[in-house]
Parts: sequence; structure tokens; C-alpha cells
Amino acid sequence: MAKTSDGWGSRIGLVLAMAGNAVGLGNFLRFPVQAVQNGGGAFIIPYFVSFLLMGIPLLWVEWSMGRYGGVRGNHSTPFIVDSMGKSRIWKYVGVFGIFTNLGIISYYTYIESWTLSYTFQSIFQTFHGMDRQQVSAAFNTYAGIHGGLKDNQLDINFPVVAIIVFLITLGINIYILSKGLSGGIEKVAKIAMPLLILFGIFLAIRAVTLGSTGISGCSTCNSHVGLNFLWNPDFTSLANPKVWLAAAGQIFFTLSVGMGTIHCYAAYIKKNNDVALNAMSAGWMNEFVEIVLGASVVIPIAVGYMGLDWVKENAGFMMAFKTMPYLFNQWGAILATISGVAWFGLLFFAGITSSLAMGTPFMGFVEDEFGWGRKKASIVLGFIILILALPTILFFEYGVFDEYDYWTGTVSLVIFATAEIILFSWVFGLKKGWREITRGADINVPVIYKFIIKWVTPIFILTIFITALVKPLNGEMSDWQTAFHQLFSKGTWPWANDSIIAQVFHLKEKIIYFKNGTPTAMFFKDMSRLLLLSTFLGLSYFVHVAAKKRKLKAKKIAS
Ligand code: TRP
Ligand code: TRP
Repeated sequence: MAKTSDGWGSRIGLVLAMAGNAVGLGNFLRFPVQAVQNGGGAFIIPYFVSFLLMGIPLLWVEWSMGRYGGVRGNHSTPFIVDSMGKSRIWKYVGVFGIFTNLGIISYYTYIESWTLSYTFQSIFQTFHGMDRQQVSAAFNTYAGIHGGLKDNQLDINFPVVAIIVFLITLGINIYILSKGLSGGIEKVAKIAMPLLILFGIFLAIRAVTLGSTGISGCSTCNSHVGLNFLWNPDFTSLANPKVWLAAAGQIFFTLSVGMGTIHCYAAYIKKNNDVALNAMSAGWMNEFVEIVLGASVVIPIAVGYMGLDWVKENAGFMMAFKTMPYLFNQWGAILATISGVAWFGLLFFAGITSSLAMGTPFMGFVEDEFGWGRKKASIVLGFIILILALPTILFFEYGVFDEYDYWTGTVSLVIFATAEIILFSWVFGLKKGWREITRGADINVPVIYKFIIKWVTPIFILTIFITALVKPLNGEMSDWQTAFHQLFSKGTWPWANDSIIAQVFHLKEKIIYFKNGTPTAMFFKDMSRLLLLSTFLGLSYFVHVAAKKRKLKAKKIAS
């Protein structure tokens, strides 16, 4: 079982791969959009506090859990957590650490394929001379989006070119994964990360020096207005649970914590090699790319040409594809081409270093437990991703994509993080845990983090989890007050539609699967849930089989 043929080639390679794991589409698309939707500067303080009290502790916990597991021959979370807790249940909790990755990688690789296609479209100047509507329409054509579902008619999105590019993107990922850590992932990270940062700096300089564009009738058409909006801290947001939930959610997503991916990468570190400093290097590199570069591109440039109100109203991650090429056009053909390549190339590099990471927990699992080789593991993984991804492509307009993002990119990571922090601090025990974090450490881990990891982080995550479960109305402070008032006077609760409970039980939606014989969006929503649930159960079954195999082997050795 402890057949560790793979490993990291160098420390810099490991840190760059880990940073590549964290730095992703989330840094450039999700972060700025979340910030704008949560009041700009108002978002920043809860975001930093979440980073210090939850992000950093989880990084240390996951890196050291991974190394602890790897030393014992376990490279994926089911048996990493199994080796740390006594109950047999833990290994099934660990299934989340493979499942989440499979769910996210399936829709993530599709977005990644858009960025690949758009890089080439920028080179070939497809968007040359297009106005904003045309650029936006070009995206819908590319992704096969018709715009609006029709009654009595099945609305399948079948974008042939986009599907071909998706298959190519998937193929590239699988090929690199089949080359292993030092032979594949590490090599890619060493090229992609520096280029990504270079492209990011170029675009950020463009944005910061843009200033006022002098568009008539638009007084806020100034990139500095956008930067100000993002950087003016607002302390009143500290009392807004909605902003906290969004900020903590972004910290989870951007650092890739609560997903089992970091554990897997860290499982290939040697017993006495540092985790404390490496975790900080990768984590802070992610924050630099997110806060400095991520915040300085889309929003400031968009505000520069469209004004602050438009951006507040329209901020969404589709802006990257539907608006940016048009904005680049304002800089003339040559700069538009260069900027387009820099932007989409950057997104592609950010995306692929993350999707490669998402592929590894599954590979580690089947290699450990079933003795598969890298090639077989990566090809099987490719087919699983294909099956899971097709519904998000074909039924994009029915919201299948969003359904995946909600369950695997938002909910399941919080569940797993809650479980792992309790395991680490309370079941495994912080005394042993602290030894794991500090063994071989090249920095002095501040002693205050002993207290934080034991008390603050678990309570923080539990609060986030419970808040997400029962979130009322829009989740603002006043909504919570109204909700408790209603609870005590009427005995009911005003669920927000995106609270986990309301989603699980469809509390706010009518359950109608067919209308005049054609399936509804609800049908596709529940079918995608069924598919995800089956994936989880299937993985649990294989974990069960693997556990049995291990027991048999142990018996044989004993007798
Ligand atoms: N952190 C990545 C980003 O910012 C996204 C991501 C989510 C991810 N889950 C992951 C990356 C799992 C690697 C592994 O975009
Ligand atoms: N529902 C997510 C959101 O709007 C979708 C999303 C945005 C996303 N940016 C992303 C998914 C980046 C993956 C990567 O926040």
C-alpha cells in the first residue's frame, strides 16, 4: 500500500504547485465580483479576518494532515483522516475530499476551456471592431446559449466548437496528470505561475494608469473610482452576517481549503520537511495575486468605461468573457490583442494549475488502494469528469452548472472543513497536532495559533456552517432580527432560498418536474443532485472495499 513512487522534485516546485492550486479563476473572477456585490471596501475587513482566523489555520492543519498521511502511505483524505481518528466513520467523512474535487473539476474545466478558446480568439482578433452587444452575443453563440427557456420545448445547449475545445482542455489535463507530480504538474506550475503573474502585472498597470476615460455623461467612468470603491474600508459591515458569509466563502474557495486537495499535494512531502513556512508562502502568494492583481483588473477597467453604477448592477463572472474583450477594443487593435492574450492566457494558466490539483486526490486514492498506475488512473478520471461535465454543458441554461457550484463549490467544503478541524484539534488532539505543524518548521509558528486552532477556528467555521444552513431572507443583520421575531411570535422561519435547508427541501420552490410533457428546470436540478449524490455514494463504496482489502492484508501479515 505504501508504494510512493511519486514525489516533489524541489521545494520551489512544491510551493509553486501549491500556489497554482490556490490561484485560480476564483482570484480574478470570483473575488472581485464578491467584493462588488458585498459593498466593495465593506468586504475587505471580514475577508482579512477570515483569512487570519480561518484561512491560515486551515492551511497549516491541511498541510500537516497531508504530510502525516503521506508518511503512512495515504495520499487521499479517506485514509488520511482514518489514520487520525479512531472511529470507522472518519474514512467516509474523508470521501468529501475526493468528491468535492470531482464535482468542481467538472464545471471548472469547462470554464477553463472557454479561456483557452478566448486566448486564441484574441490572437486571431475575432472581437476586432465589435461593440459591447456583439461581444456579449458572441459568447452566447460560443456556449450555445439561446437566452431564456421556452415552455413545451427541451432546451439543450449543444455548442459543437465549445465541446471540442472542452475535450481538448480535458485531454491536456489528463495528459499532464499522467506524467505525475514532478514530471507533469511541477513543470507546468514553474512555467504557468511566473507567466500568470507577469500578465497580471501588465493588466494591473494598464488599469491603474487608465484613470478617467472622459466618456461624456459618465462622471464615474474612471478606473480610480473603481479602485476606491474596492479599497475604502467600511466598518459597519462588521455587523453584517451576509458580508461575513460571503467573505468566509471566498476564503474557502480561493485557498482551496476544505476540499482535500492540499492534503493530497502535502502527502508527497517527506516526514521532516517543513510545512509551516511552505504553507505560508503558497497562501500569501495566493493573497498577493487575489488582492493586488485580482482586484486591479476587471473592476477598475470596467468602471473606467461603464461607470460604477453599471458595474455594481452587472458584476458577474461572465463579465470576463462578455465585457472584457469589448473594453480591450478601446485600446486599439494591437493593445487589444496583447491584452486579450494576457487576460485569457492568465485565466487559462490560473485555471489549469487548479484543475490539475483537483485531479490528484482521485488518482492518489486509486493508486494507493487498487494499485493502479498513473496512466490508468488518469484515463479513468478523464471519463468520470466527462460524464459529470456533460450535463453542465448540455443543460447549462437549466442551471445545472450553478447546481454543481452550489453543492460542491460552496456547501461541501464547509462540511468537510468543520469535520477536519474538529478531528485535528479535538480527536487527534492539538498537542499532537501542534507537533505535526511545527516539526521541521523553518519559521516559528506564533504560539497564539495554538489557541486559535483549538478554539477560534472551529467556532468560526461552525458559526459559518450554521449561518449558511438557516440563513433568513437576504441574510443582513435586520433580516436575522426579523427572523427571530417571527420565530418567537409565529413559530416560523423566513428561509433564504440559498440557505442549505431551503435548498435541500426545496422550501421556496414548487416541485414540478414536467410541464406539458417537457422537463422543467427543477427536473434538471434534481437530476444533477442525484448524479452528484450517486458520485458520493459510489466513492463511499470504493472506500468501503478498500478498507476491507486493508483488513485482509493486515490479517495475512499477522498470521
Ligand atoms: N482555489 C481555486 C480558485 O481560486 C479554485 C478551487 C476550488 C480549487 N476548489 C479547488 C483549486 C480545489 C484546486 C483544488 O479558483
Ligand atoms: N456561483 C459562482 C459565483 O457567482 C460562480 C463562479 C463565479 C465561479 N466565479 C467563479 C465558479 C469562478 C468557478 C470559478 O460566485
